[in-house]
Amino acid sequence: MTDVQPTLKAEQEGAGDGVRPVFELFEGFALTSVLASLERAGLLERLEGGGLPADADDGPDGLPLATLRYLAQRGIVEESDGTYSLSDRGRAIVKDKGYLVWLQGGYGHVLAALGDFSTGARRYGSDVIRDGRWVADGSALIGRDDVSPHATAVLETIDFSHVVDLGCGNARFLIAAARRFGVSGVGVDLAPEACEDAEHAIAAAGLSDRLTVRCGDAGDLDAIPELERSDLAVAFFLLHEIFEHGRDALMAYLRKLGTLMPKGAHMLVAEVQPASGAPEERWRPEFTLLHAIMRQQLLTEQGWHEAFTEAGWSRHEVVELGLPGAILLLYRNENGAEA
Ligand SMILES: C[S@@+](CC[C@H](N)C(=O)[O-])C[C@H]1O[C@@H](n2cnc3c(N)ncnc32)[C@H](O)[C@@H]1O
Repeated sequence: MTDVQPTLKAEQEGAGDGVRPVFELFEGFALTSVLASLERAGLLERLEGGGLPADADDGPDGLPLATLRYLAQRGIVEESDGTYSLSDRGRAIVKDKGYLVWLQGGYGHVLAALGDFSTGARRYGSDVIRDGRWVADGSALIGRDDVSPHATAVLETIDFSHVVDLGCGNARFLIAAARRFGVSGVGVDLAPEACEDAEHAIAAAGLSDRLTVRCGDAGDLDAIPELERSDLAVAFFLLHEIFEHGRDALMAYLRKLGTLMPKGAHMLVAEVQPASGAPEERWRPEFTLLHAIMRQQLLTEQGWHEAFTEAGWSRHEVVELGLPGAILLLYRNENGAEA
């Protein structure tokens, strides 16, 4: 009896023979799943919108009390005077919810299949594929704070009137550019769910007269006639998909873009650089692993620079983005016919 009680207490507190790091993973996994799932169901915004009263039997506005209590136990919300509201920590995490949605919604099931990929029981691409909608939606949320403000600042330094957004996702950037710069444009995306979301978002923004969506492979440049009259191509987190087919394919792609687009046109690219191996590096190791599962490699800033200059584009600017290890590159087309 006297032996059992201290052991039990130590186990309950996770003390035992020191810190047990497994519980950090356990809690991170559960919280990521809960928060991303609430966001996907449209429930997280209810907490973002202000405090929720705790007096309802089953929880207010579709958020069960058990969930709110759990979020309080984990320091995401606080209960005060019968109301649950985001804590400072909760607000900071929810501000960056795009990372959780991207990971859990877009790739949770892909990571869960890693063992099967390793044994050959299942194959990425034919048996398991990422969820295009949540990759696009997560990217858009991440981009809102960690890409768009940087991209807008860079675009303020050049003139352009028609944009082609290659791998446009839900068109969040096209819509922002149309509003901010008054330009017209076309978005191209391979995922039907992303195209559907992009079309809805453009219509909801009242921009259908200036923005269109082409659902198809951005790798097939001949199928994008708008390139000939576009003075800006945007490719945010798309070019590594072209690089998947090898460096020759990437070079052919950049060269062809250069011949189709007018001389002097610009290309704005966002990419994540591969994990460097530095201790405690954020985001890059997970991003690199997921892309390796999809048989995709990432390039460093220098790797992109060599490819662009070899294909006849000159560098105008490089900016570090809010996403750890991500860069924004602006190149100018030195090929092609004069506009
Ligand atoms: C990581 S998301 C980025 C979306 C958007 N550019 C952004 O920054 O929010 C990459 C997008 O590229 C699209 N994509 C991937 N391969 C493509 C291809 N070959 N042609 C067109 N779109 C593609 C995906 O469907 C996805 O919407």
